[in-house]
Amino acid sequence: MLFDYSKITTISLLILFTSCQPETAGPCTFEQALHGQAPYPLGFAADVAAFRFDPDYQNHSSFHFNSITAENALKMEHIQPARGGFEFVQADSLVNLALRKGMRVHGHTLIWHNQNPPWLSTFSGDRQAWIDLMKEHINTVIQHFSGRIHSWDVVNEAFEDNGDLRETVWRNGIGDDYIELAFQFAAEADPDAMLFYNDYNLWRKSAKCRAVLALAEHLQKKGIPIQGIGFQGHIDIRGPGQREIELALEELSALGLQVHISELDVSVNPLGKASPDLEGNFGKQAEVYRMVAEAYTSSVPADQQFGITFWGLADAHSWIPSFFNRADAPLLWDANYMPKPALCGFMDGI
Ligand code: XIL
Repeated sequence: MLFDYSKITTISLLILFTSCQPETAGPCTFEQALHGQAPYPLGFAADVAAFRFDPDYQNHSSFHFNSITAENALKMEHIQPARGGFEFVQADSLVNLALRKGMRVHGHTLIWHNQNPPWLSTFSGDRQAWIDLMKEHINTVIQHFSGRIHSWDVVNEAFEDNGDLRETVWRNGIGDDYIELAFQFAAEADPDAMLFYNDYNLWRKSAKCRAVLALAEHLQKKGIPIQGIGFQGHIDIRGPGQREIELALEELSALGLQVHISELDVSVNPLGKASPDLEGNFGKQAEVYRMVAEAYTSSVPADQQFGITFWGLADAHSWIPSFFNRADAPLLWDANYMPKPALCGFMDGI
């Protein structure tokens, strides 16, 4: 069931707004457009087919969000499935529809160790051949979307949790400087694009967080453009705590870059229990969403708030159940697009 947004009157909005009580895990009935509540853009990761062809999905997402990230459609396995054979049809349809709906489109992702086409793992060549290959991919994709996609996760997840560089096909082929080369090529391809480094587990002042700080400083010192850091934010009801989130956000903000919470979801079944009490954890989940929103506001200066993007639209679309093979409900709305306490918790933190 989907709301008939046209029937929402100002008075009912007022009643709904005042009835939003996130501290209790009671019913959350907030129905205003979510993006209108935040001073920064709010986005979601979209499935192309659902966004194009499922009217409920399309209406709900375009009502609540003013930013969008393709969940998979811009990843290399979809964009360059055959060597030199670029396939833009799916991504184009998502991007064009999103722009018609007035959304900002964030590009995810150019260089990553996952979701690469099979041919990439058998590609053989010397360092220069790998550099040429990376440059061709980055150039072709960025230039294709130039003027439509203004920001990109240029490199995704390049570090291990201990701060070491992850072993990837790109690092093996090119060497440790593949990251700076990727940013350089991206900037050359579209000097107006905003270029992000994106990773997970950056919350605590972790070794990985320090490695990302060092990378950004290194790029800045060498004059290689980088405009932002993406904190993915796949977290769960156990935390991290608000102060830990704030410290990491403050430290990265000190670089003067844009800060994007780029893939937010809060698992209610992190241990993968076979018969979990998902709803029993909705209150805790609301509290974590509240903390993240509050930390973002208090720790990231207004002009560096690129926005917050949720990794999926409603619980039925989350990647977690299928990817980790467990029941879960990590997003703001349930499978029927009914608001969860999480939605009110998030609203309360903004
Ligand atoms: C996930 C997608 O949501 C899934 O549909 C896909 O099967 C695997 O990738 N970090 C990222 C995202 O940067 O691209 C991942 O997205 C989730 C983790």
